[in-house]
Amino acid sequence: MAINWYPGHMATARKAAAESMRKIDLVIEVLDARIPHSSCNPMFEALRRQGQRPALKLLNKADFADPEHTRRWLQHYNSQPDVKALSLCAKRPREVQRISRLCQAMLPGRGTPGRPLRMMILGIPNVGKSTLMNALLKRHVAPVGDEPAITKSQMLHSLGTGMTLMDTPGMLWPGMTQYVSYKLAATHGIGRAAYEDEDVAVHLAGYLVRQYPALLTRRFGLLAANCDSHGLLAAIAQVRGLVKRAGGLDIARAATTLLNEFRSGALGPISLETVEQIAASLA
Ligand code: G4P
Repeated sequence: MAINWYPGHMATARKAAAESMRKIDLVIEVLDARIPHSSCNPMFEALRRQGQRPALKLLNKADFADPEHTRRWLQHYNSQPDVKALSLCAKRPREVQRISRLCQAMLPGRGTPGRPLRMMILGIPNVGKSTLMNALLKRHVAPVGDEPAITKSQMLHSLGTGMTLMDTPGMLWPGMTQYVSYKLAATHGIGRAAYEDEDVAVHLAGYLVRQYPALLTRRFGLLAANCDSHGLLAAIAQVRGLVKRAGGLDIARAATTLLNEFRSGALGPISLETVEQIAASLA
């Protein structure tokens, strides 16, 4: 299955982000802590590196991610030049309040009315950028929603004296690999219209059976280690009594159940990629 998700406004937004990159001092990149690598838009990263702008990488939705893998991802990013990384839950204002101080510490010469610290916030759709902006600015500036691509144009906000924050729309990129697109679909970075739940759930099930069998057992009361991905969906349908009207297990509903329970955090803290897996896949 090819997920093809590149709405026209994203091309315009990319051009705007490239122009804005020249006018800012620091990039705040919001990533999904469950998939830090796959939720990093390579177009943004290339623009940032070309422009030699430092980045604060925020691993958001850390409340959903496996804390041990999040710790490894933070180590990984914090060892890169011109990069600082922080994990957080944007829904917790106290965690968000650490961000301004960290940004100022990254560029100590800036942050006064005469030499303002100009920042741009970037992130793929639905990663929690609006939630974060609202908490950072302590007022409602961006609509929060579970459907990707709600913010559609750039906006400049003042973040106290000597700091500005440019908001940008959530953007994906053309030509992403199928492996990345499944992870984005599972974490809801890609709109529902672009894929079939069952297709994405089969991939998610395969990963969970290999990496998190104990969480599956706890949630569904079945021996997940003995299943393959299709077998897991069938077992979920069985356990939850999901049966089609015409008879037979309702695998489509089992797929939606697995996706919903993963996305809501009901399965437990789960990361869909590790530093080591990504390093091996890029080697
Ligand atoms: P976006 O601007 O990047 O598109 O994302 P947005 O802030 O609209 O957030 C998308 C969804 O993710 C929202 O859920 C939001 O509440 C949730 N969210 C954002 N950050 C976090 C986080 O750190 N942890 C968790 N658990 N959720 C987060 P929603 O279902 O639309 O709304 P709600 O019912 O959660 O309020």
